[in-house]
Amino acid sequence: MSIDYNKDFNCSISPTYTNYITVEDYNILFEAVGWGRCIPARVQMALDRSDYLIAAQIEGRAVGMARVTHDGLQALIKDVMVLPDYQGQGIGKTMMKGVMAFLEDLSSDGGILVNLMSARGKDSFYEQFGFKSGPNEKRGPGMTKWISKDAAK
Ligand SMILES: CC(C)(COP(=O)(O)OP(=O)(O)OC[C@H]1O[C@@H](n2cnc3c(N)ncnc32)[C@H](O)[C@@H]1OP(=O)(O)O)[C@@H](O)C(=O)NCCC(=O)NCCS
Repeated sequence: MSIDYNKDFNCSISPTYTNYITVEDYNILFEAVGWGRCIPARVQMALDRSDYLIAAQIEGRAVGMARVTHDGLQALIKDVMVLPDYQGQGIGKTMMKGVMAFLEDLSSDGGILVNLMSARGKDSFYEQFGFKSGPNEKRGPGMTKWISKDAAK
């Protein structure tokens, strides 16, 4: 599918949307939104294993990204982040529209369950794309556990 993101999605600034991001730019974004930095080799693995990736680039640097992995039955939206200076200008929404277009293509053969773990207070950002917070009539709350062998030492 060919999408002209700036034209079709009415973004107020005009980044270039690409399907790649460097490990360093990933860590810059991750740190800027308050999540620290990840081990570069792990980031590379995560990027390589992504089935869909969209990055908003301005002057050769990524100012936002989002990515999706899926196994055929379920998909996971990850790393939706925009540099603080560029937030509130439509970049997150534009990237999510790319994500949703990818997922809709994927769903054409029997449907797919899409999961995401919203950061605290960001639920309404995702609700505009049809996501529902748990617990609800169908599901319990999402559950997570951080596991780190190193931290236990
Ligand atoms: C959440 C985030 C990706 C949104 O990106 P953004 O570029 O600032 O958002 P946009 O400018 O595209 O906003 C799109 C819409 O979402 C709404 N929105 C933006 N941030 C929101 C938030 N934190 N909570 C609820 N709604 C939000 C806007 O009001 C806008 O609504 P409108 O289209 O009706 O005007 C960005 O704020 C961010 O990176 N936050 C830190 C990282 C994070 O928490 N990511 C989510 C992880 S699950």
